[in-house]
Amino acid sequence: TDDMAEEAKKLAGYAAVDNHVQNNQVVGVGSGSTIVYAVDRLAERVRQEKLNIVCVPTSFQVSVRMCLLSAVLCSSSLTPYQLDVAIDGADEVDAALTLIKGGGGCLTQEKIVASCAKHFIVIADFRKDSSALGQQWKKGVPIEVIPMAYVPVSRTIAKRFGGEAVLRMAVSKAGPVVTDNSNFILDWKFEHIHNWKEVNIAIKMIPGVVETGLFVGMAERVYFGMEDGNV
Ligand code: A5P
Repeated sequence: TDDMAEEAKKLAGYAAVDNHVQNNQVVGVGSGSTIVYAVDRLAERVRQEKLNIVCVPTSFQVSVRMCLLSAVLCSSSLTPYQLDVAIDGADEVDAALTLIKGGGGCLTQEKIVASCAKHFIVIADFRKDSSALGQQWKKGVPIEVIPMAYVPVSRTIAKRFGGEAVLRMAVSKAGPVVTDNSNFILDWKFEHIHNWKEVNIAIKMIPGVVETGLFVGMAERVYFGMEDGNV
């Protein structure tokens, strides 16, 4: 049920923060509905343990949330910091810990922050656990593109890799979703399992592609909250 999934998200978020965040660290904070629990736990620990922590947010969503809690210091610039750890959710995780991310449209900043961290830890509920990408997450691989390139990028992806890459449309606005970086998102609904490492590189090479939601070889550990209350 949905209640169980929410509880599972919370368990995963709390476990990751408790096991991987220490005093005097710089922490990358992902986006989505699961990371909210990790942010709450971070704020709680900062208050209780008087931790001195700097957080680097990956989206408008999470930076606002962290500012409201005002327990953690926020920096949106990566320049002065070496990130000790980054924590983030995922839309789907396969057996090799390859991820699909970007259901919330923040994949580019998420990938930058994850790539700058010494450790990249993923938190998710049991519904994201998959043996092969595409079995759980049915919306495809999100790809952030420069707006003027969305048609050629979409056609190139379909021609070379099959399936179709569809422009993500806004829900309460007439027109496309616009990312925090003022770009568009294509959701590539692929038809079969690919060599994700190769496909990721090939898609990134298409002119106009900013970033893909394929995270290959980046996640060090994944915490799954389970239905029975275990992590
Ligand atoms: C945001 O762009 C995404 O990458 C999220 O991290 C991912 O979609 C997971 O979101 P939930 O925690 O809401 O499932």
